[in-house]
Amino acid sequence: MIAKNKQQMDRLLLTNIGLLVTDNHGKPCLRGEEMAQMEVLHDAWLLVEDGRVKDFGVHSSQCTVQSAQLPADENTAQLNCELNTLNRELCTVDCHGGAVLPSFCDSHTHLVYAGSREGEFVDKIRGLSYAEIARRGGGILNSADRLHAMSEDELYRQAMQRIGEIVRKGTGAVEIKSGYGLNVDDELKMLRVIRRIRDTAPLRVMATFLGAHAVGRGYTQEAYVRLVIDEMIPEVGRQGLADFIDVFCDEGFFTPEETARILEAGAKWGLRPKIHGQELADSGGVEVAVEHGALSVDHLESMTDRDIRLLQPATTPSTIIPTALPGTSFFLNMPFAPGRKIIDAGLPLAIASDYNPGSTPSGDMKFVVSLACIKMRLLPAEAINAATINAAAAMGLSHDYGSLARGKVANFFVTDPLPGIDYIPYAYTQPIIRQVFLAGAAVDL
Ligand code: NIG
Ligand code: FE
Repeated sequence: MIAKNKQQMDRLLLTNIGLLVTDNHGKPCLRGEEMAQMEVLHDAWLLVEDGRVKDFGVHSSQCTVQSAQLPADENTAQLNCELNTLNRELCTVDCHGGAVLPSFCDSHTHLVYAGSREGEFVDKIRGLSYAEIARRGGGILNSADRLHAMSEDELYRQAMQRIGEIVRKGTGAVEIKSGYGLNVDDELKMLRVIRRIRDTAPLRVMATFLGAHAVGRGYTQEAYVRLVIDEMIPEVGRQGLADFIDVFCDEGFFTPEETARILEAGAKWGLRPKIHGQELADSGGVEVAVEHGALSVDHLESMTDRDIRLLQPATTPSTIIPTALPGTSFFLNMPFAPGRKIIDAGLPLAIASDYNPGSTPSGDMKFVVSLACIKMRLLPAEAINAATINAAAAMGLSHDYGSLARGKVANFFVTDPLPGIDYIPYAYTQPIIRQVFLAGAAVDL
């Protein structure tokens, strides 16, 4: 099982980087035309100190680290640790011409769940829609039944397998939602598992309370909304188990009015909203997100031009990050969110995996980047920025994560040599990652 790396090098120097994607813009998120900008250094080095990016440059420039001589021998061993004159450990990694990119940030997942739902996958092939499966008591309720029957330890074990999988695929920060509990005890159980992942996994974890994911079995709609407001939120707040609050505001799930009541209750505990909106129908999700100063509004497969206008700075004082989940559209065979239109309207765009057992059993962010290019017509640089700096912003983390800027947490991966950044989404199933570093420490893959 993948674990937090306890042994962080004091200093780490990466050399012979073919392509280094750095950040000199210093912006917390990129919008509109800025999203196509990407600073790429060729033949570069990167210095990490105490888990953070200290400096970077190209080999023709001077490395600022005292006595850190760049290895002259091209065949330096992959991990060649030595002591420098300051007696601080310096570990040199020769990247042999591979690219170094900031780790992906996945700002929307439901990766704590019990078992799998491939039966519904077959039902969909046979012609049932996602909404029909939900109406027949499958979907989210099916996952809630399985989660209820599973021990907390087993739930943690299964989720950590998925964490290992996404770390190997380049994710360095992830948001995880509850929402398969649907009663007080099981929602708290899920959130405790998320906290345990946060405490033991090597990547950064943010927790979102999504009690209003579906109406739990045995409740009327109104009784369930009351349960969320009167019992779940106060307990989650008291135990400090969540950073954010989410509601599945959509046709057949929760109305904008119910969503507003739930978000107001969450605000009393300092829980900022991240909303599921405009997925299945034009059902007011963006409007309620704007009214409640959400950090992000996610899905957007049914987004309208009016929604795009609502998200403009003139209408919305705080930045709300529209977040597309292309893997969901792919897996459910649904329309894609209008990502191109969102960027062309001058807005920021994040992309995330939505990793969950029903609508996207995958947390592969490289594939999400490819889908964003192929299906939403994003340029590779736009898609990579959407999956890194903007997705970090959609978790309130872009001061520390999402790009390789001096002072930020050193979360990145090293790839095989690549002809250019555009190759990443182009080679859409090719595994390119050779090494992963989180908080400056090599992760044992
Ligand atoms: O984001 N849309 C709502 N919730 C999840 C799916 C959950 C499930 O089907 O288990 C989503 O796609
Ligand atoms: Fe989701």
